[in-house]
Amino acid sequence: MKRTGAVAGLIALSLILGACSSGGGGGSSDQPSGDQSGEKAAAGGEVSVVTWWEAGSEKKGLEALVEVFNTQHPEFTFKNAAVAGGGGSQAKQKLAADLAAKNPPDTFQAHAGAELTDYIDAMQIEDVSALYDEFDLTNAFPKTLIDRLTVDGKIYSVPSNIHRANVVWANTAVLEEAGIDPSAVPADIDAWIADMEKVKAAGKTPITVGMAWTQLELLESILISDLGADAYNGLFNGETAWDGPEVTKALEHFDKIIQLTDKSFLNEDWEPAMTPIIEGNAAYNVMGDWAVAAFDTAGKKYKEDYVAFPVPGSDGIFDFLADSFTLPVGAKNVDGAKAWLQTISSKEGQIAFNTIKGSIPARSDLSEDELAQFGEYQQDAMKSFAEDTIVSSIAHGAAAPVGVSDKMNDAVAKFVQGASDVAGLQQELAQAAAPMSK
Ligand code: GAL
Repeated sequence: MKRTGAVAGLIALSLILGACSSGGGGGSSDQPSGDQSGEKAAAGGEVSVVTWWEAGSEKKGLEALVEVFNTQHPEFTFKNAAVAGGGGSQAKQKLAADLAAKNPPDTFQAHAGAELTDYIDAMQIEDVSALYDEFDLTNAFPKTLIDRLTVDGKIYSVPSNIHRANVVWANTAVLEEAGIDPSAVPADIDAWIADMEKVKAAGKTPITVGMAWTQLELLESILISDLGADAYNGLFNGETAWDGPEVTKALEHFDKIIQLTDKSFLNEDWEPAMTPIIEGNAAYNVMGDWAVAAFDTAGKKYKEDYVAFPVPGSDGIFDFLADSFTLPVGAKNVDGAKAWLQTISSKEGQIAFNTIKGSIPARSDLSEDELAQFGEYQQDAMKSFAEDTIVSSIAHGAAAPVGVSDKMNDAVAKFVQGASDVAGLQQELAQAAAPMSK
């Protein structure tokens, strides 16, 4: 099934055929692929793929993946059904409506973990465990990931990548102007806030944050730093009280940091909110490591123009999320969807995609030569993923169902806009989390 090391001529032929079929309008032809091996002559047609990698640096990763898909599966035509909005802020809503109306795409992006269980419980996605045998994936992924993908012994999606959410991105020159050594990571949130005050005193914006889900990601990172991995994990099984004093302390830190942000970005997506850090107008932003793609696109160099470090106080804890693709119940082009799942899980797909996206490959069986193709940030992230304690992201579907994270988004946005105080935020977070401890 896997086609490795295809000869150049075959690749060229495939690309031409892929281009021809996508230019054909309807793309619904069942024409033979023209593949010289003659296999799969009957398959074909459009494969509609929903992601939220619709614009900016994220789109580049998707394009790299599509290129591999066109090479590996020239008989199919990729149909881009991406919905704009970082973190899936718009895509998830549209998907929910389309799935409820029994009008699913052929495959869609979801997050490994709690978010998948939403779709599984609603019987909207198929068990794809058999594909793990067919594509020889069972031992290709690390156990940490397989555990988060498995529900009652079945696996319902195929992962393309692993991202880390609790990362601070900092502009080196802005820190230096404020007298901060960019290589010295503050020990905890209080020390980090003290550095932000230095940036403010030097006349630059200390920190930016964007729209609601980015605010929730900042908050979850502070919770991880202040609570530590065990107590943070306890927030999702009732062992740690959302209305307890540890959470209050974290929310007070969050409050102080929000007071240091530039409020003009609060309705922006993550990439515009990261721009001041890229351009040297602000010091810090907390974001997942898809930010690497934005720095790369702007031609900025890791450890020269910018530094990245775990949110202070969370060194050794990797706030995990993984993008994972599904086979929806009722998909029109099941063979096409399977071909997409094969591409995103193949070594070629994972290398092409992740070297651009900033994520690390979900596969853990790449050779040293293959791993050497990744940038320095990703080399560091791979090491952390192997050594750190792994916890799950709230904002990106790993720790909490969409119903819970949506309510948390609303509560955090209300607070950030000044419409509630720490006590009010804590109460609303506790209410939002209540279904998880039942
Ligand atoms: C996450 C997703 C990432 C990235 C990010 C920003 O939910 O897992 O791959 O796309 O949103 O849009």
